Amino acid sequence: NTETVIETLTIKTTKTAHSRLAETDKTDLPFGKYFTDHMFVADYIDGQWTNLEIVPYGPIEMSPAMSALHYGQTIFEGLKAYKQADGSVSVFRADKNFARLNKSAERMSMATLPEDIFMQGLAALIDIDRAWVPDIENYSLYIRPTMFATDPFLGVRPSLTYKFMILMSPSAPYYSKPLKVKIETKYTRSVDGGVGAAKTGGNYSMAMLPTTKAHEEGFDQLIWTDAKEHRYVEESGAANLMFVVDGKILTPEVRETILDGVTRDTVIQLAKSLGYEVEERRVEIKEVLEYAESGRLTEAFAVGTAATVTQIYEMNFEGKAYPLTDPASRTISTGIAKKLNDIRYGVTADEFGWNWIV
Ligand code: PLP
Ligand code: COI
Repeated sequence: NTETVIETLTIKTTKTAHSRLAETDKTDLPFGKYFTDHMFVADYIDGQWTNLEIVPYGPIEMSPAMSALHYGQTIFEGLKAYKQADGSVSVFRADKNFARLNKSAERMSMATLPEDIFMQGLAALIDIDRAWVPDIENYSLYIRPTMFATDPFLGVRPSLTYKFMILMSPSAPYYSKPLKVKIETKYTRSVDGGVGAAKTGGNYSMAMLPTTKAHEEGFDQLIWTDAKEHRYVEESGAANLMFVVDGKILTPEVRETILDGVTRDTVIQLAKSLGYEVEERRVEIKEVLEYAESGRLTEAFAVGTAATVTQIYEMNFEGKAYPLTDPASRTISTGIAKKLNDIRYGVTADEFGWNWIV
């Protein structure tokens, strides 16, 4: 056991006695199934973050009364690290995920995390598990920071204690092929004044029943619409949405019902740098379907960290199918996705300063 000192923070490090790396098939890495040898943990006690540690990945002890289990004060993030051509490891836009974690924490009445704990904990964890970063095309190290309430107390109030952890999972992209989606008009993901913009567990558990029903009906994913009128397109289950109409990129504007996606922001910046016009506004279901029928909608795709850029080949609204253009014919989104990948893997210059070499 050693102690790693990075700048100011001391992170107690306990290395595993048995690495699982050699027995892991690096060519078969379904999203989120395998984890690296170590994890970073920290506790929030008496108003401060303490017990900063890197420990072997494994079960943690918890009270059966732990408030996160009962009342759902739990938030997470998702970001990725990529193996560069020179063997170094680059983390993509970690500052954005850090900022969103604290935004989620504030909405869920949880403790916020200092930036140095997030960044230095992550850097130290990547350093110890750097051999786990995949080097197969489109594979990456998916990083899952997560925080939850740990008070052993059944009263309903914000917990006074929290645990923060960073897990890492070498992974293929979440979706392996283009999607057939259902525009959902019965169930609702989020409401004005609700928690839709927070990355909190409940937003995903409430989506499971409607998503399972959609799977049973033969769809890959849902497109959520606004709760009040089911009139506007919002986002997908684990990604934001983009459309190409008359050569212009159209995407639902970020509002309190939608997760402010890092990939969405990245794709918008890349699209503009490549000379495309980008329109961010409320997008009606009706207009998207009209554009699809008239041929003006040439591309539709989902963008997210786990999802990367995933094409949508068919939309369904109230029982009617709207087949879209052949994903192989789509030059705008595939061009943006290629530029994005080239930046992430260090193939092209990172003119935006998005990569953090760890
Ligand atoms: N919307 C939801 C509901 C998500 O879970 C995600 C995934 O993180 C996104 C959008 C895309 O966000 P990002 O690009 O930051 O991963
Ligand atoms: C991510 O892209 O990081 C996500 O959170 C999606 C995940 C829910 C699969």
